[in-house]
Amino acid sequence: MTIQEYAAALVRDIDLKPAELAASAREFARAMEEGISGRPSSLKMLPSYLSGPTGKEAGRVLAVDFGGTNVRILLAVLDGAGGIQVLARERFPLRDKSKDFTSEEAHADELFGYIARKVALLAPGGVEYPLGHTFSFPCEQDGVNTARLIHWTKEIKTSGVEGQDVNGLLVRALKAAGAEHVRPVAVINDTVGTLLAAAYAHPNVDIASICGTGHNSCYLEPRHPLTGGPMIVNMESGNFDGLPRTEWDERLDQASDRPGSQKAEKMISGRYLGELLGTILDSMAGLGLLKHAAGPRSTICGADLDALIAEGGAGPEIARIMRDSLGLGDLGPSDIEAIRGIARAIGRRSARAVAAGFAGALMRIDPDMERPHAIAIDGSLYERMPGYDAQIRAALSDVLGRGAERIRTILAKDGSGLGAAIAAAIASGGN
Ligand code: GLC
Repeated sequence: MTIQEYAAALVRDIDLKPAELAASAREFARAMEEGISGRPSSLKMLPSYLSGPTGKEAGRVLAVDFGGTNVRILLAVLDGAGGIQVLARERFPLRDKSKDFTSEEAHADELFGYIARKVALLAPGGVEYPLGHTFSFPCEQDGVNTARLIHWTKEIKTSGVEGQDVNGLLVRALKAAGAEHVRPVAVINDTVGTLLAAAYAHPNVDIASICGTGHNSCYLEPRHPLTGGPMIVNMESGNFDGLPRTEWDERLDQASDRPGSQKAEKMISGRYLGELLGTILDSMAGLGLLKHAAGPRSTICGADLDALIAEGGAGPEIARIMRDSLGLGDLGPSDIEAIRGIARAIGRRSARAVAAGFAGALMRIDPDMERPHAIAIDGSLYERMPGYDAQIRAALSDVLGRGAERIRTILAKDGSGLGAAIAAAIASGGN
């Protein structure tokens, strides 16, 4: 077998065909119903205790956006007429050469202490600030201001956080940092933040999604069983288990920190796509189709994956990626094209798998597609992967036919931080 033959078979295998896509979307809608009714489901369907914003929220608020290895803090003013102005912003990593607050060796108190001290710097005393906290991990909530971390995702491992109320941890850390004038009043998921922020700027937003390091979507449930009224539900759709998986997905899952969990996220998100390509290349090397150059391969970064996927592209750049990121030597032009074809298939499947979830959610909230819908999306994959939005849209048409014409997809950049600011204003009664 040649590299080209192997790649062609793999590209066919990995693709989510229209019938598979439609079946996954129906399964997604079924899992939503099970989850929201409290029955076992791969979709956690976590209540946010928030519905869409009114646009009348007002006040000066702080927002902390913690979703991975970087944290962002915003100081913002909501003007009560649908406007938000960011007065100051700060962004810092939780991991560098001297420290890693995301490792198992780091403890909750150190992690939240570090964040609290940064918040204190942005919030001079003398005035009270309500704070909204976007915490982008699965949390059980029984109100807008408590959120117990169910378990970490995205390979974050800090000790002493799982099972704890992250709002309580932040309150304690702010007190220790001498910033008791900052009052954490709301904890939200980043998908919920994205929906809140996008709904400020656009009509008809009822689904929001993150397609970046992680993947997850939320939607506005018209009649939530807890209240009988509208509520945004964090589906934790990265854990959806109704997508057809290949042997390479199984292998990647087995080698991950939490085998069996976040199955969809491991097929979709930026944290894993490079690893999936690496897993495939390893099995090709195992079959003698490819030769590893010196040393073990490193995980390919998002920008390199995007460069592989883009049509055309500079030869020297692609050769560098093959050699330095993928650790491959001795490849002819048609071998390189075959590997780029695999990278494109991985990217295309990611977009179609995301769309299966959107279609499933739409089947629930508007089965006959009678109304216009806007889906707000943030994250590096959506923003930067060549062709990603077009592939989502094509997949929506595959499942929903003409109904897909009523759907708009919108890039909601940095929505999760702005959403935390809006949530803080809602929760502190600033409306
Ligand atoms: C992971 C988290 C989820 C978050 C998503 C995007 O899937 O579990 O809560 O929304 O990443 O950041």
